[in-house]
Amino acid sequence: MDSLLPRERSDPAPGAVHLPGWLSRDQQLELVVACREWAAGPVPMRAARMPNGSMMSVKTVCLGWHWQPYRYTRTADDAGGGQVAEFPDWLAELGRNAVAAAYGDPGYYAPDAALINFYDATAAMGMHQDKDERSAAPVVSLSIGDSCIFRFGNTETRNKPWTDVALESGDLFVFGGASRFAYHGVLKTHPGTGDPALGLKGRLNITLRETGLA
Ligand code: SIN
Ligand code: FE2
Repeated sequence: MDSLLPRERSDPAPGAVHLPGWLSRDQQLELVVACREWAAGPVPMRAARMPNGSMMSVKTVCLGWHWQPYRYTRTADDAGGGQVAEFPDWLAELGRNAVAAAYGDPGYYAPDAALINFYDATAAMGMHQDKDERSAAPVVSLSIGDSCIFRFGNTETRNKPWTDVALESGDLFVFGGASRFAYHGVLKTHPGTGDPALGLKGRLNITLRETGLA
């Protein structure tokens, strides 16, 4: 019955905001098409290798700056060496609108990097902090396709307290302010829950960040 109830905005921690269904169906479709292009090159979407040698279960492609655990570079040194695709103005504008929707004011939000993560039916992401940026500007997270359980914790430890949030297609999650460096992760996705009309089998998550790098 839960799915018959409208999902409401929630603030799982100070500075962390969940806005369900923020993206329209058309925006989601446009993002799926754009992500498919970005995944094809100039840098191919790939699973990043962790410092311990294991591979992430999520596949990633980046815009603006290439990320690998745990640094940003302009060229994809661990993925063929290509020049990372440009971060488009329209995506920065979407990011400013997202920050305004979350906090009521976009401030001077100027994201210059995006990580596009693809989750197949078995992918997940362990608890971690986004802390390779030299800016405390908020992270904007957009989810498309299969829903997932997103665990949003605290800045001190990867353990409790945390809140488990169901992120569905079109949802916006922004974490800034006191929660900017909070631990978070994706426990699991719910395969097959995405709208087939999106033409996407799995889950896409796009995070926008300000790297603070020049
Ligand atoms: C991330 O933490 O970078 C991705 C989060 C998500 O997939 O929702
Ligand atoms: Fe993250």
